[in-house]
Order: sequence, then C-alpha cells, then structure tokens
Amino acid sequence: MSEFDDKAATWDENPDRVRRAVEIANYLKEHTSLIGVKKAMEYGSGTGLLSFALQDTLPDITLMDGSEEMTKVAQQKVNDQDVHNLHPLHYDLMEQPLPKERYDLIFILQTLHHIDDTTGFIERAYNLLNRGGQLAIIDLEKEDGSFHDGPFHGHKGFVRKELERQLTSTGFSIEHYGVCWKIEKEIEGHKKVFPLFMIIGKK
Ligand SMILES: C[S@@+](CC[C@H](N)C(=O)[O-])C[C@H]1O[C@@H](n2cnc3c(N)ncnc32)[C@H](O)[C@@H]1O
Repeated sequence: MSEFDDKAATWDENPDRVRRAVEIANYLKEHTSLIGVKKAMEYGSGTGLLSFALQDTLPDITLMDGSEEMTKVAQQKVNDQDVHNLHPLHYDLMEQPLPKERYDLIFILQTLHHIDDTTGFIERAYNLLNRGGQLAIIDLEKEDGSFHDGPFHGHKGFVRKELERQLTSTGFSIEHYGVCWKIEKEIEGHKKVFPLFMIIGKK
C-alpha cells in the first residue's frame, strides 16, 4: 500500500499539474537530444501525465510507479485512449531487483524527493541506461519544508551542487541544469514560488 494510492483517482483533476507536465515535456524536448531514443522509462510516473505529453515524441515509454492505484489509473488512460507506446508497470526499483530491460532515457518528475536513498536511485538509473543514455531529474530546488502540507518525510528539495556531485561520482557527465517550471502556492496568505529544476546526466 502506497501513500499515493488514495490520490490516484483525482490526481489529474488538478489543471496546474496537467499544464506543468505539458510545459516540462516541451522543456525536455528542447534540452535533450531525443533523436535515437528507442526505449524510455519514466520513474514515479503516477498517472502518466508527463509520459502522455511525450507519447508523440518517444517511440516506447515504460511508466514505472510504486503505487498500484496510480498504475491502474495510468493503464486505464492507456486503454481509453488506445495508446500503444506507453506501458504502465507497478514496480519499485528501490525494493525490487533491477529489471533486465535497458533504456536510452530515464526521466523522473517530482518523485526523487520522496525517495530516501537518492544516491541509490541514481546508481540504479545508471545501471538501467545504455551507454550514452540520459537521466533527466525534475524536482524542487531546496525549500524550507512548506511545499508539503501534512506529514512529509522526504527531502526538502535539492541543492544543485550536491546533486551534481552524486551524479558525477556515479559516472554521469552533466549535460544541463536549468529551472524548467515554477509552482506557485498560497501559504498562510502569501504567494510562494517553488522553482523546479531539470538536471540532465549522460552515461
Ligand atoms: C508527487 S508524485 C508525482 C507523480 C508524477 N510524476 C506527476 O508529476 O504527476 C510521486 C510519484 O512517485 C511514486 N513513488 C514514490 N516513491 C516511489 C518509489 N520508491 N518507487 C516508485 N514510485 C514511487 C508515487 O507512487 C507517485 O506516483
């Protein structure tokens, strides 16, 4: 049972999330070389918003997520829209063995901050990539903890230099870092902006 199971049915009802995924897909297309990418994987894909926004660009995307309900919603969307190149998979790389499949691109949106062992994730992603493959991490820049309301045990965003160090010590070269989106939230009567970065590492 994942803490995200209860959120799956209504996840796509938030129009900001849907718009964000489309804009981030455009940013990814601009800042990565997607030519030659045959197999891609989105990790922590949820209902698949970002992968659906890339379905016309990438030939084959596995949508991996540790929540059974999120995966069911993604699969339902695939069935309803008769999509043939998106493949939802209920799988937790941090708990289960490394699959045999290899990818040319792995992308992860707003999920790394929920994974305790970030280095462990980066190492697994490295091992799952073909040589020359790219890992695109999209997540929150360092924040003060106000992004999540309610109980939250993950990372309060990330510091660029620390993430770059984790990536390079795993073997990646850094291809890009930039702010790709800004989330605005009303917190205690004040508007607060949370920048999302995209960092791209190449194997
Ligand atoms: C904040 S949501 C983001 C979902 C999607 N990327 C989006 O932006 O709409 C985080 C997602 O990561 C998944 N997740 C969290 N920890 C995970 C893990 N260890 N393995 C696989 N998926 C995980 C959750 O089930 C959830 O769907």
